[in-house]
Amino acid sequence: MPRGLFITLEGLDGSGKTTQIKRLAAWLQRRSLDPIVTRQPGGTATGDRIRALLLDSRSTGLAPMTEMALMFADRAQAIAEIIEPALVAGRLVLCDRFTDSTEAYQGGGRELGSQLILDMHRLICGDLQPDLTLLLLPSLSICLERARRRNVRVAAQTGKDENRFEQEEEAFYQRVWRKYREIAAREPQRVVLIEGNLTIDEVHEQIAEAVAERLITAGHTH
Ligand code: TYD
Repeated sequence: MPRGLFITLEGLDGSGKTTQIKRLAAWLQRRSLDPIVTRQPGGTATGDRIRALLLDSRSTGLAPMTEMALMFADRAQAIAEIIEPALVAGRLVLCDRFTDSTEAYQGGGRELGSQLILDMHRLICGDLQPDLTLLLLPSLSICLERARRRNVRVAAQTGKDENRFEQEEEAFYQRVWRKYREIAAREPQRVVLIEGNLTIDEVHEQIAEAVAERLITAGHTH
C-alpha cells in the first residue's frame, strides 16, 4: 500500500487556521479522501495533558528549553500513536501545527534559534517531514486582534484558560512571524505561503489548489 500524505497547517495564533483546517477536511471528504485530523500540542491523551501544562497561563516560569522539550514530547507521542500508523495505512493526515511551530515560536519567539530545533527534530522525529505545509500569514496586527478576541470568548464560554502564549508581547510575535517567513523562503518546495489579508473563501481556494496539485504529483486521485 502506498504511504499516505502528510499535510500540516501553520500560522500565527489568529491566522484563521482552525477555520481553514475544517474547510479543507470537508473538501477532502467530498473527494473520498477521508483525512485523519489532529493538532499539536494535544491530539493524544498524553498530549492533551502536556498541552494543558504548556498553555495554562498559570504555568509561569517555564524555561524556553522546557517548553521546547515538552513540544517535542507531545510530538513524539502523536507520531507514535496517530501520524505514523495512519501514513503507513495509506491515510491522509492533516495536522494543525508541527515542527515549524516549534521553530517559529521557540526558535524565533523564544530565541532558541533554528539549528537546535532542527537537530531536535532529527533526533525525535527522524526523517518524518510534511509532504506539504500550508502557512497562513496575514498581517501581524490582524492575527493579534483575532487571537485576543477569541481568547476572551473561549474563556467566557468554557472557563478554559489557554492564554499563556497570547500574553506575550508584540515583539515576541514579530519574531515568530519573521521566523515563519524564513522557513517558507528556505523550503519553497514544501511550504506554500498564503499571505495578505484575504477572505476565508480566498484562503480556502488557495489551499484547495495547493492540495489538489500535491495530490496529483503524489499520484492520488481526487
Ligand atoms: P492553539 O490553541 O492550538 O493555537 P492555534 O489555534 O492558534 O493553533 O495553541 C497552540 C499554541 O502553542 C500556539 O500559541 C502556538 C504554540 N506552539 C508553540 O509555541 N510551539 C509548538 O511547537 C507548537 C506545536 C505550538
